[in-house]
Amino acid sequence: MNLNILAIESSCDETSVAIVRNGKEVLSNIVASQIDIHKEYGGVVPEIASRHHIEIIMQVINEALATANMDMGNIDAICVTQGPGLVGSLLVGVTVAKTLAYVYEKKLIAAHHIAGHIYSANIDADIKYPSLALVVSGGHTELVLLKDELNFEIIGQTQDDAVGEAYDKVARQLDLEYPGGPKLDSLAKIGKDSYNLPRAMIDSKNYNFSFSGMKSAIINLIHNKNQRGEVIVKEDLARSFQTAVMDILEHKTKSALEDYGISQLIVSGGVAGNSELRSRMINLANNLDIDLLIPKMKYCSDNAAMIGAVGYYYYKHNLFADPLTLNAKSSISLEKIK
Ligand code: KG4
Ligand code: ZN
Repeated sequence: MNLNILAIESSCDETSVAIVRNGKEVLSNIVASQIDIHKEYGGVVPEIASRHHIEIIMQVINEALATANMDMGNIDAICVTQGPGLVGSLLVGVTVAKTLAYVYEKKLIAAHHIAGHIYSANIDADIKYPSLALVVSGGHTELVLLKDELNFEIIGQTQDDAVGEAYDKVARQLDLEYPGGPKLDSLAKIGKDSYNLPRAMIDSKNYNFSFSGMKSAIINLIHNKNQRGEVIVKEDLARSFQTAVMDILEHKTKSALEDYGISQLIVSGGVAGNSELRSRMINLANNLDIDLLIPKMKYCSDNAAMIGAVGYYYYKHNLFADPLTLNAKSSISLEKIK
């Protein structure tokens, strides 16, 4: 039997709806980004984000159905991101999903956003358990052990800023437009690793991260150079920052893979689009002779296809939500899904 899931993702500044068959076949994946709206404020403004989700969500749903050549009659279940994320943004997706499930009498699934990022790797490949996921996005930096389907253990996480957040904040110091991550990545390619930056917690005996000190170090460095009338070579600073971040991510990921004896690595989330992260992880996987799953770029940043991909497993394990009582949650545990 085919299982067609209509998936909705609205946790931050992307309104996205996808139709995914059997967790694998992406029949449509419409992403309406609000980047142009938030750009002038230098970051996401939650109130504006939720208002924009409301304005556009029905249009995105209709487009996703039309692209898949379907109507609600072809849909078996509605899956929506319940959290974590901006509560106002989440509420829009959750309210629409509850209403559709109730009116059309469909099963309702409340998915975890990070589980979605991880299962985006399962769209064009197969997750094999146990697996290790490095989730790197604007809101999250986590090393997650996948023991079995939907069975997650967070073995390491950031103690302060997420890696994408650090990229965006540093990019702002370099006068790069929001979201600065991809622009900083491009700038780093033409620079030299010539500034000495800290690698916080790299020697700690755990898999946790800390990136806020790196941002402060860069602000201080720029300030000191400015005071002395010295020029900052932006591309060199970008390269030095990227090298320091990647040294940390690579070191912690390698230790976790070795310590847990894992033979498959998943790298997902918006920062998985980073050129250096991709090449470092390819080398790491080659050196350790393990499998590497990095989703296609379109499945790395926030999108509903990943929510449909993970929704399939919620369905398989009978994990359904109640259309009358489901609520959005700005923070929600990844470890208590099953
Ligand atoms: O997963 P995502 O789309 O949204 C969240 O759930 O946070 O990730 C967005 C984050 C932003 O901080 C953006 O700057 C960062 O991912 N990002 C990058 C790159 N592409 C996106 N950071 C570094 N290098 C990139 N190439
Ligand atoms: Zn995300």
